[in-house]
Amino acid sequence: MHSFQELANKFITRFNTSHFPSQPSTLYQPGDYFLSIGGKRIRPVMCLMGNELFGEITEDAYNVAIAIELFHNFTLVHDDIMDAASLRRGMETVHAKYGSNVAILCGDVMIIKAYDYINKTSTEHIHAVLELFNKTAREVCEGQQYDMDFEKQATVLFDEYLHMITLKTSVLLAASLKLGAIIGGAGEANCNHIYNFGLNLGLAFQIQDDYLDAFGDPAKFGKDVGGDIRQNKKTFLLLHALEVATPEQRMIIDELLSTDRADKVEKMLDIFKACNVDAWANQLKEQYLAKANKHLDDIAVTSTRKHALTELAAYLIQRQS
Ligand code: IPE
Ligand code: IPE
Ligand code: MG
Ligand code: MG
Ligand code: MG
Repeated sequence: MHSFQELANKFITRFNTSHFPSQPSTLYQPGDYFLSIGGKRIRPVMCLMGNELFGEITEDAYNVAIAIELFHNFTLVHDDIMDAASLRRGMETVHAKYGSNVAILCGDVMIIKAYDYINKTSTEHIHAVLELFNKTAREVCEGQQYDMDFEKQATVLFDEYLHMITLKTSVLLAASLKLGAIIGGAGEANCNHIYNFGLNLGLAFQIQDDYLDAFGDPAKFGKDVGGDIRQNKKTFLLLHALEVATPEQRMIIDELLSTDRADKVEKMLDIFKACNVDAWANQLKEQYLAKANKHLDDIAVTSTRKHALTELAAYLIQRQS
């Protein structure tokens, strides 16, 4: 069994080559740029961990892990257009550096390349792998649409927020684990538990992401802090503030949501702090981590094999980048 870092190193050795031809360089160089500026590589490692839980890591698992990371990077390049974000992984986003038209195509060729790797899967697993991969990809698109729709809605229920982040974020973490498990020959019950472990962990992961978007250290976070506030994203921070705000705070929130004034982020952060979003964030993360770990406990393999997943879960909810 390997640690997160060992698996990340194994993955990176295979992943860090150019995935594209040389011409037209105006299309492929931006793709190589984005894939080479890092990222935590959480999802491909989860695929390898899901696989190793049930045996030796196989070639199929590596290929699917590469497909997952390519797919994830495709979503990020397009997400940064949708979110008007100029910084990612501490570097300029693709659309900021090369323009939106290039960024659209750059994302497109990444997902096409992802299918080249899926296509390498052995006949034994290709059907199940493709089915889950496609279902997940569709769900991520649905989540991204809800995320944008919510920007324009005055109110969003907490359950609607949870549904949106399940789709845009959790399903990919869950599927990464389950794809590894499927390739490892896991049975249906184990596949369901590892998927639900990933779903709940994904919720805690996105809650931390939303928290960092407001309160992260810009030097570590690598993205523009305050971006969600500027875009009127309906994060749990805003939903919680709306719920507990005094009438005066409520008026300020409503006013901030309707402007682009220079101090919008600063003023909203003041309200978030006054509404104790810190404590709420911690409570939420712990709640979903506990649910995740319950599913991990229920996977029918010896607990010593689960060590890396337990560590990964603890790290993901405390991460600063
Ligand atoms: C960012 O994911 C997108 C979200 C779902 C929050 P990561 O935080 O895993 O991004 P990288 O790949 O490490 O940059
Ligand atoms: C992104 O959610 C989810 C996907 C990219 C599918 P966010 O918009 O919160 O992700 P970041 O914060 O830009 O990484
Ligand atoms: Mg987004
Ligand atoms: Mg974004
Ligand atoms: Mg975010």
